[in-house]
Amino acid sequence: MKTTVYIATSLDGFIARENGDLDWLPGIEDAETGEDYGYKAFMDSVDVLVMGRNTYEIVSSFDPWPYGDKRVIVLSRTLTQIPEKAPKTVELRSSSPVELVNELREAGVGHAYIDGGKVIQSFLNAGLIQEMIITRIPVLIGSGIPLFGPLAQDVALQHVETLSYANGLVQSKYRVLA
Ligand SMILES: NC(=O)c1ccc[n+]([C@@H]2O[C@H](COP(=O)([O-])OP(=O)(O)OC[C@H]3O[C@@H](n4cnc5c(N)ncnc54)[C@H](OP(=O)(O)O)[C@@H]3O)[C@@H](O)[C@H]2O)c1
Repeated sequence: MKTTVYIATSLDGFIARENGDLDWLPGIEDAETGEDYGYKAFMDSVDVLVMGRNTYEIVSSFDPWPYGDKRVIVLSRTLTQIPEKAPKTVELRSSSPVELVNELREAGVGHAYIDGGKVIQSFLNAGLIQEMIITRIPVLIGSGIPLFGPLAQDVALQHVETLSYANGLVQSKYRVLA
């Protein structure tokens, strides 16, 4: 099973402000050109989204729900149930990254999208991310929720490609070396 990170960061490496605010982040699609930076093609390749509880709490306030019929697994050790208003496609797990990847692999899932800073860090620490697509937004926000954090050991990456867009967004794809 393939696991991929697809995420946007400020140039100084944050995925949200301290309070979760994403006001500095442009929309998924450029309003003028319709450019979506590969998002739709990526999402079409994904069978399941795995996100941390903090990310779920932010996206659950979006109207409409941004993931359509895509299966979404929310990781939390504190939630006992998914709020009733959540779409039927949302499931809750308290599993470790290893347990979840084993469950999904055994169920025949081909591609999982791993989302949320802390969750991405824990999957990276467990050696369970294969690819990262990181879109850098040309802004410094000074402080916030970081994409990366402490690691038990270095994670070597192979640069696959970098695309730069006219509006200043720069998207790099990396393969995680075992
Ligand atoms: N810029 C972007 O493209 C982008 C993308 C995604 C998210 N975001 C933003 O990032 C923020 C959330 O990121 P975050 O780093 O605060 O949190 P997160 O990774 O979304 O969620 C962390 C929470 O997930 C739960 N969890 C369960 N298993 C875990 C595990 N193995 N490892 C880590 N967490 C686990 C814990 O919840 P419990 O405390 O309930 O146990 C933990 O507190 C939001 O503001 C969101 O909007 C931005």
